[in-house]
Parts: sequence; C-alpha cells; structure tokens
Amino acid sequence: MRRRNLLKAFGAAATGLAMPSIARAQAATIKVGLINSFTGPAAAFGEMNDKAVRLYLKLNERELGGARIELLNRDDGGPNPDRARQLAQELVVRDRVNILMGATFTPNALAIAPIATEARIPFVITNAATSIITQRSDFIVRFSMTLLQSVTPLGTWAARQGRTAYTMISDYAPGIDAEQGFTRAFTAGGGTIAGSVRMPIQTADFAPFMQRAKDANPNFVMVFVPAGTTSSGVMRAFTQLGLPQANIKLIGPGDLVPEEELVNMGDVALGVNTVFHYSAAGDRPANRAFVEAWHREYGANSDPNFTACASWDSAAAIVRAVKEQNGQITTDRTMEILKNYSAESPRGPIRIDPATRDIVQNEYLREVRRVNGRLMNVEIETLATALRDPGKP
Ligand code: PHB
Repeated sequence: MRRRNLLKAFGAAATGLAMPSIARAQAATIKVGLINSFTGPAAAFGEMNDKAVRLYLKLNERELGGARIELLNRDDGGPNPDRARQLAQELVVRDRVNILMGATFTPNALAIAPIATEARIPFVITNAATSIITQRSDFIVRFSMTLLQSVTPLGTWAARQGRTAYTMISDYAPGIDAEQGFTRAFTAGGGTIAGSVRMPIQTADFAPFMQRAKDANPNFVMVFVPAGTTSSGVMRAFTQLGLPQANIKLIGPGDLVPEEELVNMGDVALGVNTVFHYSAAGDRPANRAFVEAWHREYGANSDPNFTACASWDSAAAIVRAVKEQNGQITTDRTMEILKNYSAESPRGPIRIDPATRDIVQNEYLREVRRVNGRLMNVEIETLATALRDPGKP
C-alpha cells in the first residue's frame, strides 16, 4: 500500500502505471532507464555499464530493424536506496521508460524492485549480487552474478590449498552472503575459520581490520568489498601491514581485483587468486571480439570489467527482445524472452534460469599476472561449469 501511495504522490500520471503493458507497445523508441553509480568510490560501475551498452547498441543497431533504444542514465551516487527509489519512480512515471536497468548496490536494487512490480516493467540487473534480490520482484532478470556463485567454488578450492581462513567483508547483504557462502564451502572442505570481521560499508581505511586478520595468522584472508577504489584500499593495507611476508594469502571473489583498479594496485596485486565469471583476459572467441571492440572504441589502455560484461550481455538480451517483437514490445513477451535467454557470452556460455531469473554461468580460478606489460586476471582453471545460484533451492 505504501508503494502505491508513493507512486501516486507523483500525481495523475501515476495512474497510468496500472494500465496494461500493451499501452506502452506503440513506441518504436524503446526507453531504457539506467540507474547506476556514476559518482563516488563505485563510479566505475556506471561508466562501465553505460560504455558497454552504448558499444553493443552501436555495433548491433541493424538488428533493431528500425526501432531505436534510448538510454536514460541516472546517478544514484552509491549505496542509497532512497535516491534509487526516487530515480526509478521518475523514470517510470515521468519518462515512461519501457525497461529499467542497472543497480550496482543491493539496497538500491531492493528499493527499485517494488516499483518494477507495481509498474510491471522489466528490471535488468547489471550488478547487485545478493542472492535474494531476484525473489523480490517477478520483473527482475539478473545478468550479473551472485556472490554465492563465486565464493562457493572459492571456498572449496581454498580448503584444498590451506587449513585456515579469516573472512573480512563489508557489513551488508552481499558481504553476509560472501562470508556465509565461503565459510560453508571452506569448512565443508575441512578448513577452519580463524576469525571474521564485518566492516562498515563506508570504510576506506582497512588497516585496523587487516591487523586483526594478521594477528589471527591464517593461511588466507578472504575479502569482499564492493569493487571500485575500495579494492585498492584493501590491497594497500594488506601489503603495508606485511601480510605477504607473514605468508598470508589474499583471496576473494573477483570484486577484489576489477580490471580498472589493477593499474592503481601495481605489482602488490601479483599472485592474488580470485574466483569469478569474467576476466578481460579470458581466452574465448566471444571475449576476444568483445575486448577488441572495446579497445577500438575506448582505447587500448581501457579493459572491460565484469560489470561491463554483464551490461554487454544485458544489452544483447534487450536487443533480442526488441528484434523478436519487431519493435513493438510488451512486458509479458519481453519477460519471456529475457527469462529464457541463452548466449555465448564473453564470459563463456550463459543462460538465465527461468525459474529464478538468475544467471547460470562458469566460475574461473584466476591469478593476477603480468601479460604484455599489464596486470591481468589470468584464468587458470574452470572451477565450476553452468553454476546456478547456490542460494536458490
Ligand atoms: C552489491 O551491493 O550487491 C554489490 C556491490 C558491489 C560489488 C558486488 C556486489 O562488487
């Protein structure tokens, strides 16, 4: 009821939300409202999301058969559910978008979910990675990942390499998923958790937490923080406090070493092992084509990261939906196409599980190595193929 009131607060136009989706079907221009973080420590997410979608559309606009996709970018500024909710309302009510896209942060995705439901608008998630998100609206399809998809094989792998681990996570939903998922897999494999710490999400100084991890003297410190400049902060604390000399290894999901931060981290990142579904170094035909197109468009010093890959796949799925409906899209048919999507992605084969609307994908063990003078996440082993979200029954 509160949702309905919130939407009504936008005035008479809000009543249009209850109209059947066919009312939006006349548009030859499909409007996609992209809500993401374009400022703050996670600004790379907005930039990667926008760049990947624009590049895909530029290279594939012929597929649209005369229809046009218009991107409306909105900056939520970081983890800020109130702002995300307000932006989603404005995009739906005022701009009358056909599709919502984006959401780096779980709290923002959870705030947008009821608006997607109320307005009956597909919401294509390009990052937010807490398992439960897709259960909050039948109109959500997630093209990114869940934290459980990466930390589960990570925990199993780590238990084969060492006996003890210390977990260090940002204290909010995806961090809790990462801590619990890793712990479950690591202990199931015979490992022991030497300690764990949950850090406020806004933490920029990781030294006090890293000191506690060092004092516990584990084989591994497993870290999840939202990707971005924060990841470089973790790396700095890890080396400055001398954990490498103490024979402690830094591991985590790939959020720890996003492509665009590797250059800021420098050589201290060499040898860091992570598990993830995408690396710009992935040696697959679809990825080579993606990375080459990216370099041509944005320069050879810029690599796409995991959220660029998710955004590229999201754009491909939206283009397919528009094409299959000859530009006259309805919500029901668009959801059917998105929910049953499969493709040869730059990250490997992907499909959406229609029952959960979550992505099914491979997970790779990677190691930061120098390749042609640049630091890259080199994939060294496929730890899981066609992995569903381990958080779903
Ligand atoms: C999330 O809030 O779900 C989130 C944010 C950043 C990440 C991963 C997950 O790198």
